Amino acid sequence: MKRRTLLMGFTALALAPMAMLAAQERLPVPPPPPLATAEAGPLLVSADMRDGTDLSGPWHYSIDPFRAGLYGFHGEQPDKGQLRYREIDARGEMAADSRILYEFDMANSPTTTLPSSWLTEAPELRHYQGLMWYQRTFPGPAKRTGRYFLRFGAANYTTYVYLNGQPIGRHEGGFTPFAFEVTKLLRDGVNQITVGVDSQATEATVPPPVTDWENYGGITRPIRLVHTPATYVDDAWVRMTRDGRIAVDAHLDGAGAANRALTLQVPELRLSLAGKTDASGHWRGSVNAPTGMTRWSPERPKLYDVTITAGDDTWRDRIGFRTIETRGSEILLNGKPVFLRGISLHEEEIGTDPTRAITPASARALLGEIKDGLHGNFVRLAHYPHNEVMTRTADEMGLLVWSEVPVYWRVAWSNPATLATARNMLAENILRDRNRASIAIWSVANETPVTDARNTFLTTLVGDVRKLDDSRLVSAALLVERDRTATRPVMTLADPLASQLDVLAINTYNGWYSPDKLSDLAKSEWRVPADKPLVFSEFGADAKAGFHDPAKGQKFSEEFQADYYRATLGMADKLPTLRGMSPWILKDFRSPRRQNPDFQQGWNRKGLISETGQRKEAFGVLSDYYARKGAAR
Ligand code: GCU
Repeated sequence: MKRRTLLMGFTALALAPMAMLAAQERLPVPPPPPLATAEAGPLLVSADMRDGTDLSGPWHYSIDPFRAGLYGFHGEQPDKGQLRYREIDARGEMAADSRILYEFDMANSPTTTLPSSWLTEAPELRHYQGLMWYQRTFPGPAKRTGRYFLRFGAANYTTYVYLNGQPIGRHEGGFTPFAFEVTKLLRDGVNQITVGVDSQATEATVPPPVTDWENYGGITRPIRLVHTPATYVDDAWVRMTRDGRIAVDAHLDGAGAANRALTLQVPELRLSLAGKTDASGHWRGSVNAPTGMTRWSPERPKLYDVTITAGDDTWRDRIGFRTIETRGSEILLNGKPVFLRGISLHEEEIGTDPTRAITPASARALLGEIKDGLHGNFVRLAHYPHNEVMTRTADEMGLLVWSEVPVYWRVAWSNPATLATARNMLAENILRDRNRASIAIWSVANETPVTDARNTFLTTLVGDVRKLDDSRLVSAALLVERDRTATRPVMTLADPLASQLDVLAINTYNGWYSPDKLSDLAKSEWRVPADKPLVFSEFGADAKAGFHDPAKGQKFSEEFQADYYRATLGMADKLPTLRGMSPWILKDFRSPRRQNPDFQQGWNRKGLISETGQRKEAFGVLSDYYARKGAAR
């Protein structure tokens, strides 16, 4: 993995124009701060297990819809008086000198509590999409040793980060972590961090502007000041391989990374594997899995404390050891066939006004409905990488996970920048979570139209998954072609991407978005390759909780949704290679596309529970089905 140290180069470049800048002088726009990518690092894998300072809490915020803090009105360098990240006393300076003008004042702007989306902060922000500035101060560490990094769990969508008046970096992507080293910029006393977050999607972003979910702009996951020794374990992947070994790939970062002795330990297994990094700080080792080791499974989600010690650094994680593979049309977990009893989930907490700030409690509330309420063993975390709290909770509770990147509907397939963004997002997701036993499937796309450019784009992503993680399965949620001449539903999976996937996944809505009567579904014919496992990655129907129509069963009634599930599950039972399903969706979720005033009010109502957690009749239909499936294992 190449490592590039962009930071100091950029800072010198950016400082030059700042130093020369007169009060109102404008200069050509300098290059944007360096883009943080998985390739450039730092990764800080398992950073949530490291020492650090949580910068959650009150932050000042100020909107900037025309991005005056980034560009002047001719698109050039903004006025000095517009730079939100400078260390100023706006009130005091303007009171002392009538020539001074600030049209913002971060230190005296209102405060919000982060992490959260600004949509829930104030009524006037409910639909704001654009650039938001955040700022707070924090004390430097009492005794400074080693290295310090600002790590963001995620911020949606483009993020510009500044510390003590200096630009330190930029990130694109709303759902994966990124970090910047600040060791040299951090002060012993008061530090000022300023963050600009721009939620605007464009034709080039991933996802593009048109989706079926709320675009929660903001810093929706924790920001931490992470502390490490001078040389630390930046990346580590510890897993069970299909030939029954415990394997480790590790990478050290720092002056002492090369040819460094290090040791992997799993105390409960009395496993200790010593090794030494190569000249670039990498170490790969493996050892036979100890006898007596308990493999992770949904029924027994056993996690082990794992450490890697390298000099002054001790890297920690809690890891489950298991294998996942396919054999013909079977999915094998620890060598045994498994049926994925799942459901899909957006990253949105239960409640009337979700802000997409997932906590351990809100993750447990959601996943508990799947594990305990539905007797499930699987969850599709749609349509983007969820908070790391969610995947850690799935590890602990025992749910297999489908993890995906938001390559969704109409992506700019021929735009190299879009491909670079998607590749980086995929790498950031995999490198963050490949120690999570719960994750079984990496998905590279959802319902994307079949074209040559799209096939090339997705083939690249599938190749990236294979390179980054050979221990899991690859899939994508595909669409089927329907024979319009047939008098019953006849569907064919003709997507050329299918040949590259381990698991075939199909989204189907016959009976909801199609004119089929529910009684037609049992007559459906599915033409899919028989040599691979098939998963129904989506099916569903809307229902407004509490709306009943037992007589006619009209759409949006709980009765219709329940009947739809009965009919679709009956159809599913006839598919010989069906090995799982993740119906759409556990909980009603915010979607600006859904504006039926009687039933939707800006919510997609396909949830089996309402936004407040009220179970609908169909919940019981699926729960009973999975209880029977689980018993029949
Ligand atoms: C699509 C899509 C989902 C969407 C769902 C729906 O299949 O993948 O993101 O919410 O259908 O129409 O409700």
